[in-house]
Amino acid sequence: MDTLIVVESHCGNTWRIAEAIASSIPDATVMRVDDAPHIIDPRVTTLIVGAPTHAFTLSTADSRESARQRTTSGAKESRQSGFHPSRTGLREWIDSASIPQGTRVAAFDTCVKGVGPLFGRAAKKANKLLAKKGIHASATETFWVTGDDHLHDGELDRAAVWATAFSKS
Ligand SMILES: Cc1cc2nc3c(=O)[nH]c(=O)nc-3n(C[C@H](O)[C@H](O)[C@H](O)COP(=O)(O)O)c2cc1C
Repeated sequence: MDTLIVVESHCGNTWRIAEAIASSIPDATVMRVDDAPHIIDPRVTTLIVGAPTHAFTLSTADSRESARQRTTSGAKESRQSGFHPSRTGLREWIDSASIPQGTRVAAFDTCVKGVGPLFGRAAKKANKLLAKKGIHASATETFWVTGDDHLHDGELDRAAVWATAFSKS
C-alpha cells in the first residue's frame, strides 16, 4: 500500500469521492476513519484525508448526530452500494494519528455548492490540524453536493482527474 485514503462520511458522498480518487492512484487503499490505523506505516508514502463539511468545519459529535438523523435520498442511494456511515470523525483521527514527517499529504472535503466555502470548510480545518503536527498538505480540494445530499454531476470524474494530477505532481 503506497497511498492511504482516510475518509469520514455520513451520507456516502465523501466516501464515493474517496473511491473515485483511489481508482486513479495505483496501490491506493480507502479506509473508513473508524478503521484507519492511528500509527501510519512508514511504507505509506502518500496520505489523503477527506471529510464532509459540517458547520463550516470538520464534524463534531453533535453534528455527526444531526447527520445520522438525516434520511436523505442521497444517503439511501449510498447505503444500497454497501456504504456504512462513520461513527467517529476526521478531527479526532488527526488529533490522535502519528504521521511520519515527509509523508505527502492532501486533503479534500465535500460541501454544499454555494454555501460551504464562504465561511470555512472541512479540508481547511484538517490542514490546520495537520500543520500543528508539522505536516503540510500539498493539495486541497472541495467536491460539491446538492442540498439534498447528492453529488453534483461530474464530481466523481473531477475527483479522478484531481487524484491523477496530485499523484503525478
Ligand atoms: C450537521 C450538518 C452540518 C452541515 N454544515 C454544512 C456547512 O456548513 N457547509 C456546507 O457546505 N455543507 C454543510 N453540510 C452538508 C454536508 O457538507 C453534506 O451533507 C456532506 O458533504 C455530505 O457528505 P457525506 O455524504 O459524505 O456525509 C452539513 C451537513 C450536516 C449534516
